Amino acid sequence: MSVLTVTVRAKRFPRGQWDLPVLQDVHFELAAGRVLGLVGASGCGKSTLLRIVAGLDPDFDGEVRLDGRARRGPDREIGVVFQEPRLFPWLTVAENVGFDLGQGHDEAWVATLLREVGLAELGDALPRQLSGGQAQRAAIARALYTRPRVLLLDEPFSALDAFTRMRLQDLVREVAARHGTSLILVTHDVEEAVLLADRVLVLGAAPGRVVRRIDVPLVHPRGRDSAAVADLRGEVLRELERLS
Ligand SMILES: Nc1ncnc2c1ncn2[C@@H]1O[C@H](COP(=O)(O)OP(=O)(O)O)[C@@H](O)[C@H]1O
Ligand SMILES: [Mg+2]
Repeated sequence: MSVLTVTVRAKRFPRGQWDLPVLQDVHFELAAGRVLGLVGASGCGKSTLLRIVAGLDPDFDGEVRLDGRARRGPDREIGVVFQEPRLFPWLTVAENVGFDLGQGHDEAWVATLLREVGLAELGDALPRQLSGGQAQRAAIARALYTRPRVLLLDEPFSALDAFTRMRLQDLVREVAARHGTSLILVTHDVEEAVLLADRVLVLGAAPGRVVRRIDVPLVHPRGRDSAAVADLRGEVLRELERLS
């Protein structure tokens, strides 16, 4: 049963009506608890697609269905994590995680999330006191605060060092599995896509479209150095090379 069904017949930016659309005929579904990876060359429209799914850009020809219900606009059922943590600098970590306009601040839930992302001791800290990895942990906890069905991640680890990135890849997978959250992960790290995703969509550019779907039928946790991961990584890379 799909949690999310996305159809973008066309997405254009107002540059001129003769321009190619940025996205054309993109269609995919996301099943409950699954992880979908999106890879493609820089500028092919990945962030645009994620913003559409997040309800941050209502100006497109198509539809986004959540549990079968067509919707446009931001939704508590969909959380987003960007490349930068985007924390409010004047709020503590706990206040950032529980920041929810018009709603009460559920302290017990904030504490649970902080513990799950490894920040139990840092709830009273300010964002400037955090390392890059800690700040991104806080951003992940904040995105989970509304108990979303779907979490969208736009190159969430690309500003982090390799070791921190590995820790956070494992963390996101574990936390999402625990809460039954479905994930869409945009990444330019092909290994990351194969390690985390159940299915990888390779996007082509101009117009952005799905050129290939590669299933990753491997159980978790997946070894970074396993031959199966290396094979699938090679398959995705060859597809990207073919497109460039
Ligand atoms: N707000 C905007 N106005 C006009 N063009 C945009 C806007 N946002 C993105 N674009 C263009 O759309 C294309 C896709 O951008 P983006 O979705 O950011 O790609 P990606 O995330 O895959 O690198 C690029 O050519 C970019 O310049
Ligand atoms: Mg992008």
